[in-house]
Amino acid sequence: MESSVAHTADQERQRRSRTSPWPRYDEAALGFRDYWYPAMASYKLRRRPIALRILGEKLLFIRHQGRCFAIEDRCAHRGMPLSIGRCEFPGTNTITCRYHGWTYDVGNGVCVAALTDGPDSPVVGKAKIKTYPTEERKGLIWVFIGDGAPPALEEDLPEELLRPDAVLGVRVTLRAGNWRLAAENGLDPSHAAYLHRNSWLTLFRKFPAAKTNVAPQIVDQWVGYTQTAPLMEADYPGLGVWPNGEWWKRPRKGSPTKTQLRLPGYLRVNPFPASGIVHFEWYVPVDERHHRYFQFSVKWTSGFKALQFRLAYWFWWRWLAHVQFNGQDARMVKFMDPFYAEEDGWKREKLYRPDVGLTAWRKHCHEHARAVQKIAGASDEPRAEIF
Ligand code: FES
Ligand SMILES: [Fe+2]
Repeated sequence: MESSVAHTADQERQRRSRTSPWPRYDEAALGFRDYWYPAMASYKLRRRPIALRILGEKLLFIRHQGRCFAIEDRCAHRGMPLSIGRCEFPGTNTITCRYHGWTYDVGNGVCVAALTDGPDSPVVGKAKIKTYPTEERKGLIWVFIGDGAPPALEEDLPEELLRPDAVLGVRVTLRAGNWRLAAENGLDPSHAAYLHRNSWLTLFRKFPAAKTNVAPQIVDQWVGYTQTAPLMEADYPGLGVWPNGEWWKRPRKGSPTKTQLRLPGYLRVNPFPASGIVHFEWYVPVDERHHRYFQFSVKWTSGFKALQFRLAYWFWWRWLAHVQFNGQDARMVKFMDPFYAEEDGWKREKLYRPDVGLTAWRKHCHEHARAVQKIAGASDEPRAEIF
């Protein structure tokens, strides 16, 4: 046991000490701070508070009189999760810790009573827990993980997503694997041509054998790539022609799909899964080995057409695109994670030509990310106090 701990610590030291062109990205196992992130669908948060881990931090979401609040899920007294607490004073914006009854205002995090120390407790007004800014837009709760005043939500989200006529089909899942592997998988131009060629969605679609001349392209804040016409079929020396035996498949018509990745870690694929629909996905770090995966299918429409799209999403696209097609990605990220987390993969990987988009993304994060999230709790200043 001891030797395996020492081995892991040694690996960690080596990993951190290596010289890399994107050290801030290497350090961002828990993601980037000072950004808005999606937390959950609004309808999920009702009377019962919901505890979530986001970027390694423990948050508790509470709905009081219709408004959504997010606080640190940790009592200032002895660290008890407030998620097992209760609202002792209905009608007030408070939550009371289950252990000794410290009671907090969920709006500003200030301890407004320590029930078991009497109304004159010196703790009142002094002890405090962290609060997080939240917003509810497009049927989702968004939370700002960072320090100081948050920027407007609009600054962190694509403008088209917040438009009143944007109709969203949403799926949220907890997935295994570090968020960076998921984000890189999203942008990765070459995996689609192999991994996804036999998905249900692409049963009749002919995929190219190989991408050609992939080059990174950064437009506004989006990291993407360009490519020349792909090789639909190729003769691999000593092996033969590939792909073969796909006579029933036809190449996709219409404009080429544009895939772009943006800080703090979300993807836009236009169009996907069909023309007229744009796909977004967010990779929200949970801890170093898991991320919360938000998938949005978006169409800009209204009235009867919006209803039609919702039905099409729920009965068709959700299963084909969000569940089965992107489920193939989920498996890859899960299986790849141990290599990066336990076997020093960031140092041992061997990248190839189509990966230039990934390295452009890593460099972009290193240069432009607002702040790196520290290992859980490391950003706090731990200081014991007696009131
Ligand atoms: S641990 Fe919360 S009141 Fe004591
Ligand atoms: Fe994929």
